[in-house]
Amino acid sequence: MEPVLSRRTHPVSSPTGNRLASMHERRVIRSADPRLGLLVALARRGPRIVQVPRLGWVVRDPTLIRELLVDHRSTSLLGEGGVGHLWSQVLGDWVEDLFDGRGHHSLRTRARDLFTEAAARDLVAQAAGPVTDLVRARLAAGGSVDVADLARVLVGRLVVAMLGIDVATFAGEAAAAGLDEDGWGAYRLVFARGEELAALALGTQADTHLGAATVDRARTILGTLTGGVATAYASSPETTVLGRCRALGVTEQEATGLASLLLVAGTETAASAIARTAALLADTGQAARLSASGGDERDHLLDVAVREGLRVTTPVIGRHVTRDVRLGGRILRAGDRVLALTYVANTAPGSLDLDRPYLPDNRHLWFGAGRHLCLGAPVARAELRAVLAALADAGPWTVVEREAARGVLIPTYRRLVVARP
Ligand code: HEM
Repeated sequence: MEPVLSRRTHPVSSPTGNRLASMHERRVIRSADPRLGLLVALARRGPRIVQVPRLGWVVRDPTLIRELLVDHRSTSLLGEGGVGHLWSQVLGDWVEDLFDGRGHHSLRTRARDLFTEAAARDLVAQAAGPVTDLVRARLAAGGSVDVADLARVLVGRLVVAMLGIDVATFAGEAAAAGLDEDGWGAYRLVFARGEELAALALGTQADTHLGAATVDRARTILGTLTGGVATAYASSPETTVLGRCRALGVTEQEATGLASLLLVAGTETAASAIARTAALLADTGQAARLSASGGDERDHLLDVAVREGLRVTTPVIGRHVTRDVRLGGRILRAGDRVLALTYVANTAPGSLDLDRPYLPDNRHLWFGAGRHLCLGAPVARAELRAVLAALADAGPWTVVEREAARGVLIPTYRRLVVARP
């Protein structure tokens, strides 16, 4: 039975709150990439599918996007326009098979249980514990916390745990860079390296060919971050991600490729969703309702907040067309590129709303669809939930200072300081 919601005592988002929230979201997107801001604004008013010079096909309709993503025969991550093309230049041709060939199917079959809900909860509980404890303690004592920074620390801690990274190797550099006031500098640095890796893909919307210097830098970063994979794979217990890989029959080379994938797919995406959802709940006035709830109602509202947060912060997805195909009444030709504007598709029903029912057309589209459906979805949900639960415990919260990140692949906040009102 659905818990009784305290809608009357805590009114849902107000029109003013929604306008404020939308304004900040627009800024976050423009600041990440002004062209993306323009594209989002135009696509909202444009046709469901349209061909844009230099960019390729732009799709903004959830049903068409799903149709595109599940059509594995006509589309690929590989080839110009897909993320697979980017990473095969960095990691080598073997990645093509692992990302989207027969090797991908085989790996996904074996890795199906890598992140069960329970495994993800345990993994995240360990990585998030010290961070969420700090959020609760500081806010309860009347202080403030920078949610954007703490989200990066949390994700950094998770990456360290998943990839078997020896944080000591980052400690000196983190201290020298002034990132280590609280002893978490190494995690910030790990996150920053992951961010740098993703940033190498910036400016590739029109062309996914990387220059030699970019490829070299990406290889160096990946080398430092995945250097511990072989040892951890061989010796870690099955309670760890790499130990579980071994137990599931994932080979060491596959585990190294998978580690790189987890890094590029699971760092900025999660940190962005955490910071932006925290801001949206505060801006729309719904943080107060979440904080005032308890028991089953709190549980239910947290579930909705996670789902809604993911919906309204969805990243975009790129594909390469491998054979002529009809989509939404248009003919896409082999060799064309497609940009699935999932952000526009998922935000069309409206802004974050704790009373919004499940939306069948948009279901999980924030995690993609088809064979590349996000492998880390349970982890992402657990991360977001852990931070929102801590904020709600100590809240309500309000944003006292914010700065959108500039020139990043996934729009987010560089700084988002929150405190009790
Ligand atoms: C809010 C956070 C996240 C969002 C919105 C998100 C979204 C996505 C999307 C849309 C895809 C499909 C991309 C495509 O079809 O081209 C994807 C794939 C993937 N994600 Fe996530 N992700 C998130 C967090 C994570 C985390 C935390 C992990 C790892 C622990 C992860 C691991 C992966 C992997 C490995 C893939 C590739 C799957 C494949 O190609 O078979 N993601 N993610």
